[in-house]
Amino acid sequence: MNDLAGKHIVLGLSGGIACYKSAELCRLLIKAGATVQVVMTEAATQFITPVTMQALSNQPVLLSQWDAREPNNMPHIKLGREPDAIVIAPASADLLAQLAQGRAADLLTLTCLARPLERTPLLLAPAMNREMWAHPATQRNVTQLRADGAVVLPVGQGDQACGEVGDGRMLEPEQLCDALIAHFQPKWLAGQRVLVTAGPTFEAIDPVRGITNHSSGKMGFAIARAAQEAGAEVTLVAGPVHLPTPWGVRRVNVQSALQMQAAVQAEVEGATVFVAAAAVADWRPASAADQKLKKDGSGLPPALDFVENPDILAGVAQGERARCGALYCVGFAAESHDLLAHAQAKRARKGVPLLVGNIGPATFGQDDNALLLVDAEGYRELSHAPKLNLARQLVAEIARRLGAAAQV
Ligand code: CTP
Repeated sequence: MNDLAGKHIVLGLSGGIACYKSAELCRLLIKAGATVQVVMTEAATQFITPVTMQALSNQPVLLSQWDAREPNNMPHIKLGREPDAIVIAPASADLLAQLAQGRAADLLTLTCLARPLERTPLLLAPAMNREMWAHPATQRNVTQLRADGAVVLPVGQGDQACGEVGDGRMLEPEQLCDALIAHFQPKWLAGQRVLVTAGPTFEAIDPVRGITNHSSGKMGFAIARAAQEAGAEVTLVAGPVHLPTPWGVRRVNVQSALQMQAAVQAEVEGATVFVAAAAVADWRPASAADQKLKKDGSGLPPALDFVENPDILAGVAQGERARCGALYCVGFAAESHDLLAHAQAKRARKGVPLLVGNIGPATFGQDDNALLLVDAEGYRELSHAPKLNLARQLVAEIARRLGAAAQV
């Protein structure tokens, strides 16, 4: 999706081995629709060439505050005012120290100091050795930079170029791009705590087999992402799916409906919105065999007994009504026909203020969907669009309803 269409980004690189990731970040920003002006410090040019960054950004890279190509010879003034954001990735320990002190010895730091604070956001992606990151001086600088209005992104954890393992890696290019996209989204859900279920459940028959369904988890993951982008603190309880965790979202992995129920019960305390997008299996084998079931030569299949799974959403909604709490519950309905009638009936049966209907076979595994929002007032269609786009619309709809008392 063209999530950065129309955005102009100054991408700053300071010295660090993570500069190799900045090339990919630049490519992703362009792919998302942004125009990118790269500014590099002298140290950054030791790690990656301006030629690479020029080729990817399609713009000459700016390296010096003395660059005579700018008619008034003040490139830092234009650079600080024109972009929708300045993103520095990697931001080295030394760069953070310089910015925290308000120093302006090269074009990149000069641009940051000269930017109008209220107009040009500054996002910093730190990258350094774990000892440098943990050093009190660096942490002091990070605190200072946040107090001065910069967005200091978290660091990643894992193997470092120096051979050590720990905190201090720069976030991956995809995460940085998503963090920037999130930065530009309206903060409809600031201060809210959102719990989302997503994906199918897997009900074991024996250690190697089970029952599941075609849910890909894409819609639930898109809702978790959209809620995070809108400023909420988001926990995603995910059934078995192969999807990356959305940026900034806390994920709890589960397999079965009972595990999903336990995870939801553990996480729902303190949540203000619950969106049940998971396709929970309605039944599970009464008891899962400890060992793999073998053919016995009779030609007869094993007899399987099933029991009904608990209705996670209905249970949460019922408990919520019982304690007159402030949790706003949103259910989903995957139907094959008569969507409106089924969605209205399901909304009443589950006891939730908002129920989102979709045609199951048409949406499972797809990147696009269409939704039907059913509440006490009536219904509203969200027409065919990418799931993330729909998720953002749904988040805006939920935010609009949050002030009003839930009417079932
Ligand atoms: N749901 C749940 N726990 C279950 C079953 C469903 O929390 N055991 C939630 C789903 O996450 C979804 C909503 O309830 O938000 C609708 O689920 P669905 O399976 O479509 O509805 P059912 O109540 O099972 O009705 P039916 O199978 O008859 O369509």
